[in-house]
Parts: sequence; structure tokens; C-alpha cells
Amino acid sequence: MILCKYSTRTVLLLALTALPTWLMAEENNVQETSKESNGTSEELVLRSIMRELDENMREVVGAISREGWGQVAEIAPLIADHPEPPFTEKTRILRFLGADSARFVGHDRQVNEVAMEMGEKARQEDGEAVIEAFSRMQKHCLACHQEFKEGFRAHFYAE
Ligand code: HEC
Repeated sequence: MILCKYSTRTVLLLALTALPTWLMAEENNVQETSKESNGTSEELVLRSIMRELDENMREVVGAISREGWGQVAEIAPLIADHPEPPFTEKTRILRFLGADSARFVGHDRQVNEVAMEMGEKARQEDGEAVIEAFSRMQKHCLACHQEFKEGFRAHFYAE
């Protein structure tokens, strides 16, 4: 079944090609994890990570309004290096995404990169560039949501 289709090699290949920060799984464990528990209403850790990102973004907006570039520079790496879901959840997500994993990880990587760029611009106190990077970052959040959020909800939640 699904488990066999996305073999250890596929996972390793994805890890190598997409350099996914949060899918860098110990590939030899993938096949040991339990069956997909579909249709539960238990929330993904991913969701709480998303809420944290949301909060970080709000703080950045506040800091930009006050030209608090130091604060923007402090928050930027929290967005770029946001926590990862635990290994078993990453595995569930990877199985669900299958061939789309690389695209999913690509969106995440773009958010990370732009967040770092925003931090750099904040350190230079270049307000316009900070705002420009912020807006690009939001476009990457949106792009991933538009492509994947609905599918995640349908697959991982009973609601
Ligand atoms: C790689 C894909 C991806 C990227 C990039 C991404 N998200 Fe998400 N986001 C998701 C998915 C998938 C969900 C649905 C998770 C769920 O419902 O468990 C989600 C859900 C959310 C939610 C709703 C949480 C809730 O309470 O239901 C918020 C808010 C959110 N993301 C904020 C952000 C912000 C802000 C960014 C950019 C800084 C971002 N996301 C980037 C994939 C992504």
C-alpha cells in the first residue's frame, strides 16, 4: 500500500534533492511507523506550529509599524527556523503528500529564505526592503495554503 509506494529510497532522494529542513527524516525508520490514522480530530502539531508562525507574523507587523527593526531582526529567525513536527507526524505527512512532498517542502524553504532576507534588511534598517520581503513571505504562506491546506484538512481531520 501507500507505505510501500514511497520507499526509503524515495524519501532519501527527496531529502537530498529538496534539502527539506523538516523532512530530513532518518529514512530507515520510515517503514517502521504505524499505519495512517486517518479521520481523527486530533490536531496535527503542524497546526500549532502554524499558529506560532501566525503570531510571529503579527509581531513583525507591529514592529514594522513602530520601525522596530531590531525586533524584526529578532523575530525573523523564529520564522525561518520554526519548529518541526515530531518524526511520526512528518512521516504521516510525507506519506500523504507522496510525489507532492518536494513542492510542499519548496514552499517551506521559500518562507525560510525570505524570512532570513527580511532579518538581514531589518539589520540594515532598510524599512522598505523589510516590508517588501514581508509581503513576499506572505505570498509563500498563501501559496502553500492554497495548494495544500484543504487537502490536509480533508485527510487528517474528521471535522
Ligand atoms: C509548506 C506549506 C505551508 C507553509 C509554507 C505555510 N503553511 Fe500555514 N498551513 C499549512 C497547512 C498544511 C495548514 C493546515 C494545518 C492543519 O489544519 O492542521 C496550515 C495552516 C495554517 C494556519 C491555520 C491554523 C489553524 O489554527 O487552523 C495558519 C494561521 C497558518 N497556517 C499560518 C501560516 C503562516 C503565517 C505562514 C507563513 C509564515 C504559513 N502558514 C506557511 C501549510 C503551510
